[in-house]
Amino acid sequence: MRPRTNLRLFATLYGRLACSLMVVFIAIGAVMIVASQRMFETQRLFELVTNLVVGTVAFSLIAALVVFRFLTLRLRRLASAIEAFRTSGFVSPMRVDTPDSNDDEIGRIIAAFQEMSERIAMQLAQLAQADRQRRELLANVSHDLRTPLASMQGYLEMVLIKDDGLSQEDRCRYLQIAVKHCERLARLVRDLFDLTKLEANEVRPQVEAFPISELAQDVVQKFALGAQKRDLKLSASVSADCPPVCADIGMMERVLENLIENAMRYTPAGGEISVGVRRAGDRVELQVSDTGQGIDHDDIGNVFDRYYRADRGESSDAGNAGLGLAITQRIIELHGGRIRVESAPGAGTTFTVELAMA
Ligand SMILES: Nc1ncnc2c1ncn2[C@@H]1O[C@H](COP(=O)(O)OP(=O)(O)OP(=O)(O)O)[C@@H](O)[C@H]1O
Ligand SMILES: [Mg+2]
Repeated sequence: MRPRTNLRLFATLYGRLACSLMVVFIAIGAVMIVASQRMFETQRLFELVTNLVVGTVAFSLIAALVVFRFLTLRLRRLASAIEAFRTSGFVSPMRVDTPDSNDDEIGRIIAAFQEMSERIAMQLAQLAQADRQRRELLANVSHDLRTPLASMQGYLEMVLIKDDGLSQEDRCRYLQIAVKHCERLARLVRDLFDLTKLEANEVRPQVEAFPISELAQDVVQKFALGAQKRDLKLSASVSADCPPVCADIGMMERVLENLIENAMRYTPAGGEISVGVRRAGDRVELQVSDTGQGIDHDDIGNVFDRYYRADRGESSDAGNAGLGLAITQRIIELHGGRIRVESAPGAGTTFTVELAMA
């Protein structure tokens, strides 16, 4: 905090002006006293009066100029800082070098201008970033929509063109492929829609207390057949004393689905996936571990980024858009929880979600 002094009057523009004028009048008074001592020499009276008037006018003028210059110095600095801010395209905030700049009205004006320029520069930077992200998103979305759409169109046209020349078996296969691409499109559009709503804070979780261990077992059950087909061992381990959590059931189901889906996608046949729920202090911990390919050290910090795929080259056409973990993280944040990932390339990955107990 700025130390307060007894010279508070001097800390206002009005006070400074008054002090400066006081100095000027004291000086004029002193000159008049000296002059009055010589007044009795009558022959010099006229000469003295003339000198006194000229001297007083000149002194007052110079003093007024000095005072005016002193008082407007910071205003001139402020004006050139505003000009520099304008020529920078409003991107670099103003810097006005004035000591004790907050002490009087001009100081407060300068501080207010500096704060305003910082806000304007920050908001412009945010706008530019939002615009960049929007363009990136559009580019990614159009790429991801184009691939399944083109395949779907190709297979459907083939069914139409060949019509009678196609065996029943081939027709069925082509239509199945078209349906698969259609599902992929629907999923991508759903994920994009959900993520946009989550990021815009347009969804409010419908929280209620429920046993998350039961939900975990249900979701594991749902994936059991798929895991079996891929020769993966999928299991759930739930501790008996696990308390319920207060959360949105649908959203938590989505979190579990995303994490288990990832584990299955990135774990080769013969691997193991385990889903665990337990109490950790005053929180509930949910873990999805796999013995899969793991995530490289360089990629691990980015996996929660929207559209990030560590193996972009291979999987860009495999139907995954890189939205699952971004959605998952946003859901967990909405519940005031935390999500973290530990991984060792070639050894496996563990995602841990912490939620508050009900
Ligand atoms: N269990 C895991 N093992 C190895 N890598 C993983 C695992 N989970 C996620 N990743 C890496 O993190 C990236 C981002 O995951 P995310 O779930 O966001 O996207 P995705 O699975 O590629 O696509 P989507 O979930 O939208 O279908 C993945 O592409 C993958 O490279
Ligand atoms: Mg995923």
